[in-house]
Amino acid sequence: MKKLLSLALALTLGLGLAACGGADNAGSADADIPTGFTTVEEGVLVMSTNAAFPPYEMTTDGEGVVDNFEGIDVEVANEIAKKLGLTLRVDDMDFDAALLAAQTGKSDIVMAGVTVTEERLAVMDFSDSYAKGVQSVIVPEGSDIATIDDLAGKKIGVQRGTTGNIYCEDDFGADNVTAYDNGMTAVQALKNGQVDCVVIDNAPAQELVAANEGLTILDTNYTEEDYAIGVAKGNTALLDAINAAMAELKADGTFDAIVAKYISAE
Ligand code: ARG
Repeated sequence: MKKLLSLALALTLGLGLAACGGADNAGSADADIPTGFTTVEEGVLVMSTNAAFPPYEMTTDGEGVVDNFEGIDVEVANEIAKKLGLTLRVDDMDFDAALLAAQTGKSDIVMAGVTVTEERLAVMDFSDSYAKGVQSVIVPEGSDIATIDDLAGKKIGVQRGTTGNIYCEDDFGADNVTAYDNGMTAVQALKNGQVDCVVIDNAPAQELVAANEGLTILDTNYTEEDYAIGVAKGNTALLDAINAAMAELKADGTFDAIVAKYISAE
């Protein structure tokens, strides 16, 4: 009996410690999330992004999920922040700047439909992948571009600093590639006849084609990629907490519900 009692006591104490122990920032964090991480600003998770990439991150006229921002990444990051006992702040900037902000510790995470690549792994660390991405080709209806090979010698529009930008320059030559600030401006250039096609991730491509008449997406994909959350190199404590939070969001259906809100299953 005594033994049982002390076991119960030890359990209660242990649980109590786990719930309130750990990092500066983990005040009301989930008990199952590893602690010991610090953030740029105490109590805040700063996410750098480029909010011109629907359905992953975009601005709204009305009220967004965080300030005037919404999208899959914004909502998932918001849920992760809650699990870490933090408040999410979204810092909107150019895509290449968003990557750099996380690398240099100006933001805690970059979440922007970021593709994991060898080059990026050399300068930053990534969470477990949370989505698949595909580089698609948008062309005007009736274009003579029907396959990826047809891109040779064409004028290609891309978003600056993205995998589409890098791969197209490698495969078709920098002279044939024009980089724009974001997908919207690239598509505007396509409609104006300044480029022959736009290479961009498939989910935003779908939205851009839906919003602009006379455009279509090639059936063949250019590349297939993994999206993940980027942090500064060596920030393992934060990465572990993020991976644990993401695993919980996937296990309890929160993640799928957020995706379903923005992408209708075909
Ligand atoms: N997946 C591509 C990349 O990582 C494009 C991401 C662009 N994201 C954005 N929010 N503009 O390079």
